[in-house]
Amino acid sequence: MSRLHAGAAAALAPGTWKVVVANGVPIVVLNCEGTWYAFLDRCPHAAAPLSLGRLRGDELTCARHGWSFDVTTGASIPNNPAFGLKQFPVVVDGGELFIVLGP
Ligand code: FES
Repeated sequence: MSRLHAGAAAALAPGTWKVVVANGVPIVVLNCEGTWYAFLDRCPHAAAPLSLGRLRGDELTCARHGWSFDVTTGASIPNNPAFGLKQFPVVVDGGELFIVLGP
């Protein structure tokens, strides 16, 4: 399993996020109410960095044109499967966050 280390879980408080880069690809890892999620840092609309957006509860709003996404499912709001987030599983191992990139 290919995993990317994303730092200590305790360092990412609820409601905060950081960007890590895997092979030149930016990935947002985010703490939503105590659960960690990771997704490509590119808005499905016009590729703006989602890390510049605003998080309210589990809803992330893109800073560029205001599209919103449910970070727990990756679905756009309203849901349109063509515009979901590219998500990655997050594993907590020994208090450290790892983003699962592939098998
Ligand atoms: S680029 Fe995100 S809403 Fe347009």
